[in-house]
Amino acid sequence: MSALNIGRRNRLRPGKFVGAEDPRPTVPTIRFEQEGQQVGCIEGANLRKAAIDAGINPYKGLNNLNNCGGVGQCGTCVVEVVEGMQNLSPRSDVEQVYLADRPANYRLSCRTSVNGDVTVRTRPQAGAGSGSNSLMGALKSLIGK
Ligand code: FES
Repeated sequence: MSALNIGRRNRLRPGKFVGAEDPRPTVPTIRFEQEGQQVGCIEGANLRKAAIDAGINPYKGLNNLNNCGGVGQCGTCVVEVVEGMQNLSPRSDVEQVYLADRPANYRLSCRTSVNGDVTVRTRPQAGAGSGSNSLMGALKSLIGK
């Protein structure tokens, strides 16, 4: 007999776990601070896509119309990481360019993978850096800020 007979009385039932620990794998949780929303995602999920799937807009103002759609070419999908920076993919070269003048905890959501729990603030103040291809980035470049 190859299958383990655990007996009718000892069979696992949905929602019931033998022992102290839940054997189900945990999924990363993204907490969107400003929206007061929390969503679970698969490990390696794209942060921008997770936000949009949750009905959260990663863009600010005119950048809703003036963005690259998530291919890392505009620098407008900026989020501020409040907690869990260590649970995100490292900053990419594209982010180094677009966010060169932004704080280290600012990320381009379309270039960021989520590997564990994280709390983010979407559309942070002065989110788009002067290197971005956004309207605000262009204006900042013109006025030298
Ligand atoms: S959507 Fe354009 S860089 Fe992220």
